[in-house]
Formats: sequence, structure tokens, C-alpha cells
Amino acid sequence: MSYSYPGVFIVIEGVEGSGKSTQCQLLKAKLSSLHIPAIVTREPGGTRTGEQVRQWLREGSDLNRLSELFLFSAARVALLEQVIIPELHRGSVVILDRYIYSTIAYQGFAKGCDRIDIDSINKIATDNLQPNLAFLLDIPPKKSFKRKSCEEPDRFEQEDLSFHNLVRAGYKSIASQDSKLWTILDASESINTVHDKIWRRVTSSNAIGNNKD
Ligand code: TMP
Repeated sequence: MSYSYPGVFIVIEGVEGSGKSTQCQLLKAKLSSLHIPAIVTREPGGTRTGEQVRQWLREGSDLNRLSELFLFSAARVALLEQVIIPELHRGSVVILDRYIYSTIAYQGFAKGCDRIDIDSINKIATDNLQPNLAFLLDIPPKKSFKRKSCEEPDRFEQEDLSFHNLVRAGYKSIASQDSKLWTILDASESINTVHDKIWRRVTSSNAIGNNKD
């Protein structure tokens, strides 16, 4: 199915501690300061179902990679139906902290789920909805983990460095295959530098028509 809506769909991806949430909020603040309607939401989460699934996924010790794959997808279906699609139809800029590329990087590259299975499940869950722009905040996990205050690391944060290196390599492989969609940024640069680069890409794309700074 091909979608037509007045909104703009922007995805920000990266390993733990890469600064995604901060950059999502900065982008939203910038858009809001220009009176461009924007929301930030996250995966898994953003709906009642999604936040419950998030709790499960962070704690559930008996989940294997396949049950994870289906749970992330179930949360995604709820978020798309209840938040993302309605907001895009309303004309908002939807800034999403993680999307299908996290499933490919974590459940695929790092945990070994079959890529063809992941692609078909992602396609079913999203009805093939693609973002207008995607940003990869790239940073070595060894560096990004130092930024995190992990008093109580969740199941994913407890994985060893080699796991997170596989996630990073997965993201780089995904992003390097589509330079129109993706911008790869060095997330070890300062928060403001990364924000400026995101903003420059957003304004230089045709995604946000007449609302340029
Ligand atoms: P975070 O939003 O705090 O980064 O936590 C979400 C965790 O879930 C993070 O470790 C990445 C992981 N994740 C997957 O493994 N697959 C997915 O499809 C998504 C959306 C997240």
C-alpha cells in the first residue's frame, strides 16, 4: 500500500547511549519554535499496549529472540495505528525514537533471526510505511555506554560489548544501503553539533516544504 498524508515521518536510530532521545527532543523543540506541529514518540512504547510490552521486554527472562520479534512488532502495530498514522494525517512531524531498523539490527544482526522473516514481519506490522528521513547516531558502544547512568541495566543493556558491536555494525550496514533515506552522524560529537547536522538535513530535504528556517 502506498501512503499519502501531509505529515513528515522522521526516525532516529542508534545503539544505547547514542543520544537518540536527546536529539528527538531537540528536533521537536526546534520545530515547535517555528510553529511546526511535531510529536516525539518511541519504540517500544507510546501507547498503553506499547508501554506494557516495553516493561515485559526489558525484564522478561524467558523471552527468546522470536518472542521478542513478535512483541516488538505488536507494540509497533499499536503505535502506528493509535499515534503515528493519525498524526501524519493531521500534518504533524512525527519523530520516532527507534523503528523497524532496530528490529533488523538487534533481533537480526545481533541475535541471528532470519532477515527474510524479519523483513516480512516488519512489512506486515507497518503495512510497509517508510519514514521520509532516517538518522543513524553512530558511536562505538564502548564510548556510548560510558554516558549511560545504568543503575539498573535492562536485558538489552546487560548484553556484552560484542553484542552491541554487532548492533552497531548492523545499523551501519542498513544505513549505508540507502543514502537518500539515511544520514549517518558521528554521535561522539557534541549534542549541539549533532542537532545542527540533523536540522540542516531536515531543512535541506523537501520533507518540510515551506517551513524552512
Ligand atoms: P531504549 O528505547 O531505552 O533504547 O530501549 C529499547 C530496547 O529495545 C533497546 O535495547 C533496543 C531494543 N529493541 C530491539 O531489540 N528491537 C526493536 O525492534 C526495538 C524497537 C528495540
